[in-house]
Order: sequence, then structure tokens, then C-alpha cells
Amino acid sequence: MRDFSTIRKDFPILFQEVNDEPLVYLDNAATTQKPTQVLDVLRHYYENDNANVHRGVHTLAERATEDYENSREKVRAFIHAKETAEVLFTRGTTTGLNWLARSYGDAFIKEGDEIVISYMEHHSNIIPWQQLVERKGAKLRYLPLTDEGFIDMAAAKEIINEKTAIVSLAYVSNVLGVINPIKELAEMAHANDAVMIVDGAQAAPHMTVDVQELDADFFAFSGHKMCGPTGIGVLYGKRQWLEQMEPVEFGGEMIDFVNLYDSTWKELPWKFEAGTPNIAGAIALGAAIDYLNEIGMENIHHYEQELVAYVLPKLREIGGVTIYGPQDPEQHTGVIAFNLENIHPHDVATALDMEGVAVRAGHHCAQPLMNYLNLPATARASFYFYNTKEDADRLIEAIQATKEFFKDGAI
Ligand SMILES: Cc1ncc(COP(=O)(O)O)c(C=O)c1O
Repeated sequence: MRDFSTIRKDFPILFQEVNDEPLVYLDNAATTQKPTQVLDVLRHYYENDNANVHRGVHTLAERATEDYENSREKVRAFIHAKETAEVLFTRGTTTGLNWLARSYGDAFIKEGDEIVISYMEHHSNIIPWQQLVERKGAKLRYLPLTDEGFIDMAAAKEIINEKTAIVSLAYVSNVLGVINPIKELAEMAHANDAVMIVDGAQAAPHMTVDVQELDADFFAFSGHKMCGPTGIGVLYGKRQWLEQMEPVEFGGEMIDFVNLYDSTWKELPWKFEAGTPNIAGAIALGAAIDYLNEIGMENIHHYEQELVAYVLPKLREIGGVTIYGPQDPEQHTGVIAFNLENIHPHDVATALDMEGVAVRAGHHCAQPLMNYLNLPATARASFYFYNTKEDADRLIEAIQATKEFFKDGAI
């Protein structure tokens, strides 16, 4: 196992000063930094193997295709899918969820069907369903949350019923830091002949994912949140569904035969991947998976829990800090949304940046959640495995300094 105290050196971007202070990067829920191991693979690909995939017979094209497809196998193993045919490369979680609303939605959703999501969803797991229900005359329903931000499972038992056609939920919230009981919710969905769609954007980077164990019908995630590049992501789908679904995009790469007035598609997974894909991105995502596997997803999860158990009580000790989501560190992932009494979260984030600490402030692409909690916005610190207890201390010190700075209402 890699030693967490030396892992930082793999991330050159972390060794810089921001506003004359050493950078502390705590915006990992938005995007993560990239280790040299991934950057080297990107560079190596473009310097040595760059060619289009599935087209040429020349050596470079064969190398590029082999590396691209090897990456698909790495993804399959990473999420414990049955076969690579079930692993589709996308641009990211948003694309995956939009494809589902279009493709699965158009094929299977009828007037009167209900699609169940929750109040904690990211906009990309809300808007595609709003659009779908409008097209189909279906209905969107929301699972309520408990005070600590867990899905209210008693309400879920009522709301997920024989009218439900899709249940689509985040595995891990990008605001509240909760892990949702997807397996149990998938059982409820399946008992009502509905499919279970999982937004895995905040889960795949931080914990072991087993789509078969969860019995998820679909699972979407993004490479850039797990040390990979932007513009590459994955949509997993069970073969039984993907075979019945139509592609969302049409063109090169995805066809078998093209006649004047009709065409046929390639087999899975390529029928969904129209046009030249993000080849370098997919290969670098494979490198990111190798990198994460070397550390071990269980180790990453435990280490992040350790950081959270360290930082939550210190945050609470400051006074005047409201922490959203579960209060027990055991139940809280590395995403910590908070507010400082009488200081707007944007001011908090700006003041922390002055101290070299990067956090996010705003609605976190979860406006319905903000309304549900009756909040305009929050600040959010999100940890990853390359963060340290020293980073947590810097956050705490910077928050204390911010509180002091705004004490007299000064800006
Ligand atoms: C829970 C969740 N879902 C979906 C997304 C969208 O991911 P992307 O912008 O990579 O498509 C995010 C990104 O912040 C997220 O946190």
C-alpha cells in the first residue's frame, strides 16, 4: 500500500503558492488534481501512439485501439461489471444521465409513469428527468430527507410504488456528504419493476463500487473527479437494457452498414459511441484507475474517513459554524458543506482563498436542495486522499481568521 504521507508528491499542482500562502486544495468534489502517472500517460499517448481508433489497420491505429479498449476493461474491473459491452465511454456523468433520459426514457417511459429522485440530487440528475416527464406526460417525484440529510426510507417505501418506472439517485451527495443505501433502494425499485439508476459521480472516486452487488441497472460517473482528465466519463448499463435502447448520437464509429435510407448499428458498447471518442481521455482514465487501485479504494475510503473524523470536531469547536449533513463523522464522507454565522458563504470562500485555501461556495448545482434546506448557499470543503491533517488544520485556522476578520461586520 502507498504511504499517504508521501502521496502528495505525485501531484505537482499542489506545490504552489496562492496569495503568498501554500495552496490547500479542498475543492475535490468539483474536480480532482491529476498525478504525474496520469499526466505521463496522456503525454506518452500523444507523443507515441496518437491515431484514430477502430478505423486504421496501421500500427499506430492498432496501438491506440488496443489501449482504448484496455481502458474499457480497466473500468469494467473497477466497477465490477460483468462484461466490457456494458461499459460506455461518455463525456462525464451529465452526458450519461442525459443519454439515459433520452434513450431509456424514450423507449420505456409512458404517460402516467413516475420517476423518483431525491431532494439532494445534482442538477444533472434532475433536469434530464424534468425534460423527459414533459415529453412523455410522466411525473417526477422527490424522496424527502431526514434532518441529517439521509433519504427518509419510510417515505421511500411509499413513494416507490407500482407507478414507479425509474428510481435515479446519487450514491454519495455532493453537498451533504451522505452515502445513500443504494442496494436497498434498488431492491425497492426492482420489487416494483422499476430500474435503478445511480449517479456515481461522488462515489466512484472515493469507495469500492460493485454495480452487480448494488444491482444497479445503470451507473454514471466522471473521470475528472477521480484523477483522470476532463471530458471523459462512463455509463454502465446492464446488457439487457442497452440492447433494447437506441443510440442517442449517430455517425461514424457506431454503424455497421449505412444504406441510402436506413442504417444498422454496431454491437455493444460501440453502438452508443458515435464519432471519434476522447481516446486520450479514456486511456488516461485507465491510468487513473491503475493509480487508484495501487493505493486501494478501501484504503482511500478509510483514510478520508480519518480526515473527516479529525476535521469535523475542530470545525464544530470554532463556534458559529453550521455543518450540514450527518453529524457523526462515521457517516460523513469527505464532502463538508458549512456556513459561518452572519457571513455569506461567498465571502467565506473569498477570505479562505486569501489564506491559500480553495473551497467552493454557492448552490453546488443543487438548487432544489438549497431551497429544501432553506439556504441561499453554503461553503463546501471537499477532501481527497492527497489531503492531509495539516490541510485540515489550515482550513480551521483560515476559518478562524475569517471569523475574526468579519467580527465587526467589516468587509
Ligand atoms: C453528484 C454529482 N452528479 C453529477 C455531477 C456532474 O458531473 P459532470 O459535471 O462531471 O458531468 C456532479 C459534479 O459535480 C456531481 O457531484
